[in-house]
Amino acid sequence: MSAADVRAILDRVSSSALPDSSDLVSLLSADDPAEVQEILDAADRIRKQFVGDGVLLRGIVEFGSFCSNTCSYCGLHAGNTALTRYRLSAEEILASVDAIAAQGIRTVVLQSGEDAGMDPAWLARIVEEIKARHGMSVTLSAGEWPRAEYALWRSAGADRYLLKIESSDTELYESLHQKRFLSSRLRCLEELADLGYQVGSGIMVGLKGQALSHIARDILFFRQSDFDMIGIGPFLPHPQTLLRDQGRGDVMLTLKTVALTRIVTRDSHLPATTSLGSMGQDYRPKALQAGANVLMPNFTPAAYKKLYEIYPGKRCVSEPTGACGFCMEGMVASIGRFIDYGQGDSLKAGKGLTRPLTARG
Ligand code: SAM
Ligand code: FES
Repeated sequence: MSAADVRAILDRVSSSALPDSSDLVSLLSADDPAEVQEILDAADRIRKQFVGDGVLLRGIVEFGSFCSNTCSYCGLHAGNTALTRYRLSAEEILASVDAIAAQGIRTVVLQSGEDAGMDPAWLARIVEEIKARHGMSVTLSAGEWPRAEYALWRSAGADRYLLKIESSDTELYESLHQKRFLSSRLRCLEELADLGYQVGSGIMVGLKGQALSHIARDILFFRQSDFDMIGIGPFLPHPQTLLRDQGRGDVMLTLKTVALTRIVTRDSHLPATTSLGSMGQDYRPKALQAGANVLMPNFTPAAYKKLYEIYPGKRCVSEPTGACGFCMEGMVASIGRFIDYGQGDSLKAGKGLTRPLTARG
């Protein structure tokens, strides 16, 4: 493929309502550095046009590491007896959220393993308290639950929910999850949207058995599902998992996937994921220049951060709580962008309260 071929395919992909999967596979397979740069630059232009130069911050609090699930890639899986498990108290969670608010950040993401021992009413009370104290946006990411629980948290004030699909291919999904079904993940995503949540999803790049054609179909799935947020990160092997011997996901392929997701979905919010920052070099600035527009500073209390070990070598586990927010100011300035201290609601028509950018000042 020549640079001219890449430009011609990019033109077709960016002007089509639903591009051809074969065009996406061609772009994902580009490996000449100049051709790859064409793809990342095209995504950067579309990012600027549709979501602007502001980088949104979402403060994340990893509020528990217990998990009843057995995902073959994740260090938190139920069978990992080497991991010390924790559940934060309501007071600890609220103190972390206070720290997020004190830095002027207006979205909190409360994430945990899929913990069958968690009392849904307890989480609902925490959401209510956050809304009462700070009025900030609350995103939950606690896995698959029955509709009644999603409805409870929504009526308590939760605005958004993150549930990554990991792969939109039934066979691949089910090869990675024991006794878990793609159909149930899809049902959850549909119910969340139906309940009025702004919905986020996403995939890992570099999963065992994942071909470029799977990634191309995932990108088309993102377009058809019209997700408000899409998180894409490299798979990183954890020694206490079934996939311990699988190599890590390729950085360039991950960046091309972020870029093509931007080109195809246009105005979804795309984080520069922590996993992209955890590969020796920090590739988050690169992701921000390849279509991403969100960063997720970690506000989990310092004593627990290292226990939320989804994969080894996770970025910033020894930083004091809240350090990431300040560090990210510098990261974003170094690439000529700025932090947008707005809530960063969905930009999809009718789904979010689209607000003008609000720089802290
Ligand atoms: N329990 C919730 C759920 O299932 O959606 C949220 C927690 S889960 C640990 C958050 C995300 O971590 C997953 O959706 C997955 O994409 C990512 N993840 C898990 N294991 C990973 C690994 N080995 N490398 C990179 N990302 C991983
Ligand atoms: Fe965590 Fe820089 S992003 S300290």
